[in-house]
Amino acid sequence: TGQEALSRIAGASDLDTLEALRVEFLGKQGSISGLLKTLGKMSPDERKAEGPKIHGLRESVTEALTSRKEALETAALDARLASETIDLSLPAPDQPRGSVHPVSQVMDELAEVFADMGFAVATGPEIEDDWHNFTALNMPESHPARAMHDTFYFPDHNDDGREMLLRTHTSPVQIRSMIAQGAPLRVIAPGRVYRSDSDATHTPMFHQIEGLVIDKGIHLGHLKWTLETFLKAFFERDDIVLRLRPSYFPFTEPSVEVDVGYAYEGGRRVVGGSGDAPGHAWMEVLGSGMVNRRVIEAGGLDPDEWQGFAFGTGVDRLAMLKYGMDDLRAFFDGDVRWLSHYGFSA
Ligand code: PHE
Repeated sequence: TGQEALSRIAGASDLDTLEALRVEFLGKQGSISGLLKTLGKMSPDERKAEGPKIHGLRESVTEALTSRKEALETAALDARLASETIDLSLPAPDQPRGSVHPVSQVMDELAEVFADMGFAVATGPEIEDDWHNFTALNMPESHPARAMHDTFYFPDHNDDGREMLLRTHTSPVQIRSMIAQGAPLRVIAPGRVYRSDSDATHTPMFHQIEGLVIDKGIHLGHLKWTLETFLKAFFERDDIVLRLRPSYFPFTEPSVEVDVGYAYEGGRRVVGGSGDAPGHAWMEVLGSGMVNRRVIEAGGLDPDEWQGFAFGTGVDRLAMLKYGMDDLRAFFDGDVRWLSHYGFSA
């Protein structure tokens, strides 16, 4: 009966059961379809009486199927939403995380140490002209010191007719800073430099940091104090001992090379103590000196009014020393295993 059909539909517990009922009632062989076929064999009077009943039955069964289907689908969706809720309290799987490269890290540390001493950061181009890289630094053409730099040259000259090259040191930033900012001046210039050289302790690209102070009455004592303060802060040790050795750079006069004392501890170099102490030795860490008068002039300043000191050091070497690394080339291999060994990668 109709009542029975409707209650079976209302009681269908899932979509498969409901589909089976639809076929049972309305399918080609279905019971209601069967009833509809009987209409054709009826007399007009009978058909008038039975027609509306059978059609009404088909309509109400169709409606019941549709509404039960909607109800079951809504219930299924609700159940899925409930079971697929994201549990925010579950610990997430570890994602490998990148980290700052040791060279960048050390450049940041250096900038911070020098910022505390009132130094601003200056920059210059890595593609330089030979005037800024050499001539203005008191290395005119055919100066023998030029040959020591193993310079990468470009085939073409710039619009001013100057030879173009990859800067061989950060010292050209001294010239650019004086010209751009005048005096007094207190800057550091970290960056990449290039020399055609490659072995266990040299890479064709490496990093330097330059320092320049221009002011009135500047003397070697200021240089010594600055370097000592900087190295103690950078290595985070009070027992850093410096040795200043007379040297030669075309752009400084007098020139001083600076060594720090170190010893081997557990197979690695550890800075600290005098290099003359038992078990200790000296290691060169930077070049420096009082800025040559001709360099101050090239910077557009009067050397009778302004004096200064400058220094330059290899960032990669400082990083190796601070973190106990022993192969310079590893810095540029990008090997995550090496980086994480030194705590530079998650
Ligand atoms: N530019 C020198 C070098 O690359 C280092 C230096 C800088 C020396 C400033 C003295 C003063 O070796």
